[in-house]
Amino acid sequence: MEMNAPIGSTPLDGKAGAVVGKPLDRAEGPLKVTGRAPYAYEYEGEGETAYGYVVQASIGKGRLTSIDTAAAERAPGVLLVMTWKNAPRLQPKSQKSIPELQSDAIDYYGQAVALVVAESFEQARAAAYLVKADYAREPAAHDLRDAIATARIPTGRGPADTQVGDFAGAFASAPVKVDVAYTTPHQMHAMMEPHATMAQWRGDKLILHTSNQMLNDGQQSVGATFGIPPEDVRMVSRYIGGGFGNKLAVYPDAILSAMAARQLTGRRVKTAFTRQQLFHLTSHRSQTQQRVRIGTDRDGKILAIGHEAWSANLPGDDFYESAASQTRTLYAGANRMTAHRLATINLPKAASMRAPGEAVGLLALECAMDELAERLAIDPIELRVRNEPAEDPEKHIPYSSRHLVPCMRAGAERFGWNRRKPRPGQVRDGPWLVGMGMAAATRGNSIRPSQARVTLGPDGVMTVRMAMTDIGTGSYTILTQIAAEMLGLPIDKVKVLMGDTDFPKASGSGGSFGANSAGSALYDACMNLRAQLARGAGVDPAQAHFAGGLISQDGGPSRTLVSLVGPGGMSADGQIDPGAMARQYSQQSYGAHFAEVGVDADTCEIRLRRMLGVFTIGRVLNEKTARSQMIGGMAFGIGAALMEDAVVDPRFGYFVNHDLAEYHVPVDADIGELDAVFLPELDDKASPLKAKGAGELGICGAGAAVANAVYNACGVRIRDYPLTLDKVMKGLA
Ligand code: MOS
Repeated sequence: MEMNAPIGSTPLDGKAGAVVGKPLDRAEGPLKVTGRAPYAYEYEGEGETAYGYVVQASIGKGRLTSIDTAAAERAPGVLLVMTWKNAPRLQPKSQKSIPELQSDAIDYYGQAVALVVAESFEQARAAAYLVKADYAREPAAHDLRDAIATARIPTGRGPADTQVGDFAGAFASAPVKVDVAYTTPHQMHAMMEPHATMAQWRGDKLILHTSNQMLNDGQQSVGATFGIPPEDVRMVSRYIGGGFGNKLAVYPDAILSAMAARQLTGRRVKTAFTRQQLFHLTSHRSQTQQRVRIGTDRDGKILAIGHEAWSANLPGDDFYESAASQTRTLYAGANRMTAHRLATINLPKAASMRAPGEAVGLLALECAMDELAERLAIDPIELRVRNEPAEDPEKHIPYSSRHLVPCMRAGAERFGWNRRKPRPGQVRDGPWLVGMGMAAATRGNSIRPSQARVTLGPDGVMTVRMAMTDIGTGSYTILTQIAAEMLGLPIDKVKVLMGDTDFPKASGSGGSFGANSAGSALYDACMNLRAQLARGAGVDPAQAHFAGGLISQDGGPSRTLVSLVGPGGMSADGQIDPGAMARQYSQQSYGAHFAEVGVDADTCEIRLRRMLGVFTIGRVLNEKTARSQMIGGMAFGIGAALMEDAVVDPRFGYFVNHDLAEYHVPVDADIGELDAVFLPELDDKASPLKAKGAGELGICGAGAAVANAVYNACGVRIRDYPLTLDKVMKGLA
C-alpha cells in the first residue's frame, strides 16, 4: 500500500486489552542476556576461519612511499598480507562503491593500508605490527576552523539553502533581536558493539555476517564495490549491539574481509575493529559552526529567523550536518533563511549520527530562543507558544499532527517549571547554584519503502519475515506485537525472523523511520492475510473479527484460523510506500525537555540533577521500548551538552581521545533523575499504524535544555559545546 490518504479506522484502533502499546519485555531479551543471540563476530560458517587485522595509516594526508610486508608475511600463522599492491581490483569509488586498498593515496589518518590475515586474531595482530609503512606527507586542514574558506554549497542531499520573504530586511528593522554563534565539536557514536564482519564466498556469491543497520542498502553498496549484482550479496545482521548511525553504511571490516576471503579461496575471513581502531576506520559527526539570528517585535512575535550551519567532510564527500533543517519548520515567522556550507578537510568520513542535523542544530536554535526570551523578559515556554505556526511556515502545508504546546505545558506542570527564577544565579543548595532550563524537541518523520511476508502455519504459529534490523531499539518486540494484534494471536504464537537479505526488502533502522516503515509493511501483510482467511471462512473481510486464534463475524459461528490454512500454511505479502501524505503534510514528532542542573560555585563542576521529556510520537507501539529510546536519547543529549568532544590533533589529523576512557559519554552516575512520558496522539497521515518516529527525538533539544539550565543556574552563557567546568569558570571570573 501507498500512504496516499489518511488511514481511517484500522484493526489497531479502540480495542480493549490491545497488545500494541503494551510495555512488553524484549522478545529477544532472554537470548541476549544468556549469550545465545549471536552477534556478527560470533558466527561460525563452513570451512576454516581466518582472522584479519587492519594496519592503519599514521599520517593525515599524503602517499605511501613504501610498504614492507616481508616480516609480517614470515610471522607465525600469517596467510596473507594484503596491501594496495596485491589487493584485488575493485570498482572505482562512487556514491555506492567503497573500495579499499586501491592506491597509495592516504586521505585521512587511520585509513587502512594493509590487512593482515592469519590463523588466529592474535597472530594477525602481532604480524600487523611488523608491517612497515613509509609516507610522503602532504599539507592538509584537519579542522573546520582552518578550512572554512573552502566551504561550498553541498548539492548531494536536497536543498542546502532556503529563503522565504525578506530575511535581511526584516531582521535589520526588528525591534528586538539575537545574533549568536554556536559551535559543536566532533562527536562519536560510541555504540556498544564494535564493527565486525565474517565474509565467505560461495562461487560468485558473497555472504557477510556483519553488524549493519540497513541491510538492503548495504547489499547495493557491497555489490557495487565488487562489481557483482546486489542479489549475489547476502548480508546477515540478526543482532546488533547498537549503531546510532555508525552502521548505516558498510565499513572496511566488511570490504576487507570479503577481499581477503576472495584471495584465500575456501576460507572465511573475520575482521573486527578494536574500539580504538573504529574511531578512524568508521565515521563520526562533524563539528559545526552555526549562526542563529532571530528578530521579533516587542511582544516576542518572530519577524525574521535565520540559521546558517557549517560542517566539514573529506574531499568529494557531500554529506553535511543539516543543522539548520529544523529551523525551517519549528517556529512561525514570515521572513526566513537557512543555509548549509560544507568545508573540505582530511579526517575520517563524517556521516549520520543519531538525529543528524537536528541533534546539533537544536543545540544552537533552542539556546538562541532562550537568549531571546531573556532579552524580551518573556518566559521561554510563552515565547515558543507565541510563535506556534498554524501551518509549515516554509512549505505552506498543514502539519500531520503537532502537539508541541501541550508537551511544553504538561512538562512544565510535571517538572515544577513555575519554581524557576527567570533571573540566573538566584537559587542556592549548599555549594550548588541550581537552575532550570527547557527546550523544544522535534525530528522529521518519514517512512521508507518496506516489504514483509507473513506465514500462518498449521501449528498456529505466524512467522514474519523481513530484512529489517533491530539495533537494540525493540524492532523484534514491536513487530511481534503488531502481528499478534492484527491476527488476534497470543504473542507466543508469533515468530519474527529478520536481519537477513534473504527476506523481503525493508527499510532497516535509521532516521527514526524503522518502526513505522517495517511495522506498516507488516500491517499491510497482515491485512492481506486477514482477507485471505476471511474469504476462506466465508465471511466479509471488513466485518471479520480475529481473536484468540479464531475468526468470526458478528453473531456468526467462529472458526479456528488453523483450520483455514491447510498443511502448507497460508502466506501473504505486504508493503508500504510513502505516498501523497508525505508531500501534503509536514510531518514531525515533537516534545519538550526540562532539565535541572547544579553548578558548583567553587569548582564550577556541572551535575545534572533531574530531567524530564514529554513527547508525542503518534501511536506508541511499546511503552517500554519507546521510553527506553527517549531516555537513551536524552542521555545522549546530556553527553552532547556536557562531555562529548572528539579532539583532533591538528598536526596529524587524528582523534586524540580515541577510546571510551577518554571520549566521555554519560554513565548512570552522571545522569541523576531521568524520566520520559508520552502524551496520547494518533497520526492518521503518518502511517497505517498512526505512529511517528521516536528513536532520535529524545536527543533533539535535550542538550539545549541542559545548557539553558546551566545558564539559569550560574549566569554563564557558553556557546561552545561541550559545557565544561573551565568554560564556566572563565565566565564566572
Ligand atoms: Mo540514524 S543517524 O539514521 O542511525
